[in-house]
Amino acid sequence: MGCWQRLIDLFRTKLKPADREFIETYLDEPGLFLFTQMSYSDQKHSIAMARFLLGETENLKGVDFQSLIQGALLHDVGKVKGEMSRLNRIIVGVIRRLFPGLRKKWGQRGKNRSLRHALYVDLIHPSRGAYMAESLGIDPKVVSLIKQHHDPKTDNTDLELSLLQMADEKN
Ligand SMILES: [Fe+2]
Ligand SMILES: [Fe+2]
Repeated sequence: MGCWQRLIDLFRTKLKPADREFIETYLDEPGLFLFTQMSYSDQKHSIAMARFLLGETENLKGVDFQSLIQGALLHDVGKVKGEMSRLNRIIVGVIRRLFPGLRKKWGQRGKNRSLRHALYVDLIHPSRGAYMAESLGIDPKVVSLIKQHHDPKTDNTDLELSLLQMADEKN
């Protein structure tokens, strides 16, 4: 899904039955709960990532597919629906990609201006999402994928995490 499709999805509201069926194949009840508390655009982004990964990893050996696809579907659950306005989501996406230093500087807790809050949410969503997932009993491997999905790549980055990060970049 390209950048334009993500923008269009910011203004849609409900998943198509095929997408609903897709997520129900991979997520249990707690996973579905976490998934559906995200905004429509984050849901679509996560489904696009999961579908992309299924295609990309079809012939790869040694991949933990179940964790990878669940991780793709749940990686952004720390972004709760309604917390960021549509406009701020777009601005935050640009700042995250082009000015990562500003994201840290401006995204401080306690500042209640909405862009600052959106940057704060963007900054903490991996750890918050992991905490939410862990509290609901999601598989520890999936929890760690959620927690680390924006961490810089190192020599210790495992296969599923690097695939997830690659898919996140492309979708
Ligand atoms: Fe994220
Ligand atoms: Fe993402």
